[in-house]
Amino acid sequence: MQPVFDSDVIDYICSINSQGSELLPDVHSDDEMYLFFTSHPDHRNTPLKSYFISGDGMLQNLREMLNSIGRSLESTGSFLEFACGYGRFTRHLLRYLNPRRVTVSDVYRDAVDFQKATFGVDGFYSEFDPGKLEIPKKYDVIFVASLFSHLPEQTWRPWLKKLYNSLAENGVLIFSVHGTTCMADPSQMPRSGFYYLNMSESRSHSFEDYGTTYVTSDFVRQATLEETGTPVLLEISKGLWSYQDVYIVKEEAK
Ligand SMILES: C[S@@+](CC[C@H](N)C(=O)[O-])C[C@H]1O[C@@H](n2cnc3c(N)ncnc32)[C@H](O)[C@@H]1O
Repeated sequence: MQPVFDSDVIDYICSINSQGSELLPDVHSDDEMYLFFTSHPDHRNTPLKSYFISGDGMLQNLREMLNSIGRSLESTGSFLEFACGYGRFTRHLLRYLNPRRVTVSDVYRDAVDFQKATFGVDGFYSEFDPGKLEIPKKYDVIFVASLFSHLPEQTWRPWLKKLYNSLAENGVLIFSVHGTTCMADPSQMPRSGFYYLNMSESRSHSFEDYGTTYVTSDFVRQATLEETGTPVLLEISKGLWSYQDVYIVKEEAK
C-alpha cells in the first residue's frame, strides 16, 4: 500500500523540519513497520503520521539512553543500526548524525538497498544464521531495536555474542527486548526465562527464524555475562516506546 501524504502528515513533517533538522520523508511501500500501522486499530486512520512519530520516539529514547551513560549521539563516530528495516528510525537518526557515520543492516536486502540509495548510508545484508555473517567493521554504537524481541532461542545468544564482538573499543551495544510486562499472561514464562511464540508482524519470515520472544531480566543478564564476559551496564525498564526493555552493554577490553 502506497503511503499517503495528507495535510496532517505534511504539517507534521514541517513541524519536525522547523526544529532545524530535515526529516527524509520517502517511505517504501513494503516497509513492514509502516504496514503494521495501516492495520492497527489505533493507527489505521493515521498510519504514516504514527510511523513517523514512532521513529521520532525511538530517537528521543536513544538520546536519553546515551545521555544516561555520559555519551551523545552527535559525538558518535560510527553507528550500526542492526535490523534496520526500511528506515523508520534511520530517517530520524540522520537528523543528528551524518550518513557517512551510519551503517544499516537487515536480512531484507531491498530494505538495505533502499536505505543506501535514499538516505546515503552505508549498508550490508544480514543473515538469519549469525554464523553465516561477517560483520565488516567495528562500531562505536550498535543499536538493535526490536530484533531480540523476535529471535528464537537457537540464535538469541549467538547474535548477542556476534554483535558484542563487533564493538569498537569502549563501544556500546544497545538492544531492546519484550520483558515479562509485555506478556498477556506473565505466569506463562518458563523457568528458563525465555518464551517464544510462533507469531509476528512479518509477512515473510518463517517462525523458525523470527517470531515473538519474551525474556526475563535474569535471562538477559546471565546470557550477557556468559556470551560477552561483561555484565550489563544499564537496564532501562520500558526504555523503548515505554514498552520494550532496553539493555546496554559496553565493550571491555580483555
Ligand atoms: C520489528 S522489525 C524492527 C525494524 C526496525 N528496527 C524498527 O524498529 O523500525 C525487525 C527487523 O529485524 C529484521 N531481521 C530479522 N532477522 C534479522 C537478522 N538475523 N539480521 C538482521 N535483521 C533481521 C527484520 O527483517 C525486520 O526488518
